[in-house]
Amino acid sequence: MNPDGATSFVDRIPDYHARLHAALERWLPAADHYPATLHEAMRYAAEGGKRLRALLIYAAGEALSVAPSMLDGAACAVELIHAYSLVHDDLPAMDDDELRRGRPSVHKAYDEATAILAGDALQALAFHVLAHDDRGPEARARLHMVDLLAEAAGSRGMCGGQAVDLAAAGRQMNLAELEAMHIHKTGALIRACLLMACQARTALDARVLDGLDRYGKCIGLAFQIQDDVLDVEGDSETLGKTGGKDQASNKPTFPALLGLSVSSQRAAELFVEAHAALAPLSDAALPLHQLADHIAQRAR
Ligand code: IPE
Ligand code: IPE
Ligand code: MG
Ligand code: MG
Ligand code: MG
Repeated sequence: MNPDGATSFVDRIPDYHARLHAALERWLPAADHYPATLHEAMRYAAEGGKRLRALLIYAAGEALSVAPSMLDGAACAVELIHAYSLVHDDLPAMDDDELRRGRPSVHKAYDEATAILAGDALQALAFHVLAHDDRGPEARARLHMVDLLAEAAGSRGMCGGQAVDLAAAGRQMNLAELEAMHIHKTGALIRACLLMACQARTALDARVLDGLDRYGKCIGLAFQIQDDVLDVEGDSETLGKTGGKDQASNKPTFPALLGLSVSSQRAAELFVEAHAALAPLSDAALPLHQLADHIAQRAR
């Protein structure tokens, strides 16, 4: 409980997880539906994880007084894109990681071809969800969500960052290059969560939109810096993925360039900036402040 007696957004996370899982259940094809192995692999890939991107959408919904039912499709779509990105990120041609979300990566549990296709199909399904979400916002708002998600996931966002990441193994990067890579590969999708939530709200004040955009950008970059730090500090058991992988693969990361303590300091500064960006929302921003603090403290 907060001093004012209200529960924190963090206490509502289980409810939002339940909503997201119901939405995923609604949209993912049944595991025994033809072609069964592909659908099974898609479901396997979509299970687990912290669901922080969906939570950012729901927290923005609370701040904007948008009903969660208006955001279930967006939350589902973003988590489907994220799940696909992890499946492909783990492939031997990319990071070659055998552990994800505490169990074998999709290409280990199934095979490489199935993992490639499951990722492809999860991405397609994300856009299908937004197109067909008739319980969500009106069609025009969903069209804007499609556009935001496509931009964030594509070559000018996540895929672009992933391309830079793969080309950079074994090479030096300066701070500006490293930040740009992180903003693309991870920041773009996290920022899109906030912008997509804004589409479900009519007559939005431009300062509020700008504040949420800046919050999303700060959290997005901070999140990948934390991921780099956790790769060094965390153990595989806690992380649910192989620790120490970045150094083993000679990846340019924040800890490799700046050391652990300066990297953590940079992430902390970005969280401070994220909080400050919420000023135009005044008290309505409380759920987003609480979620930012929750993310800042993460150990996995
Ligand atoms: C891991 O993301 C990959 C990055 C973009 C840093 P998360 O840490 O959100 O992974 P899950 O969804 O909780 O497994
Ligand atoms: C992944 O970055 C970013 C994605 C877009 C998937 P990482 O390669 O550092 O993510 P993890 O550490 O494998 O989860
Ligand atoms: Mg990677
Ligand atoms: Mg990886
Ligand atoms: Mg990582």
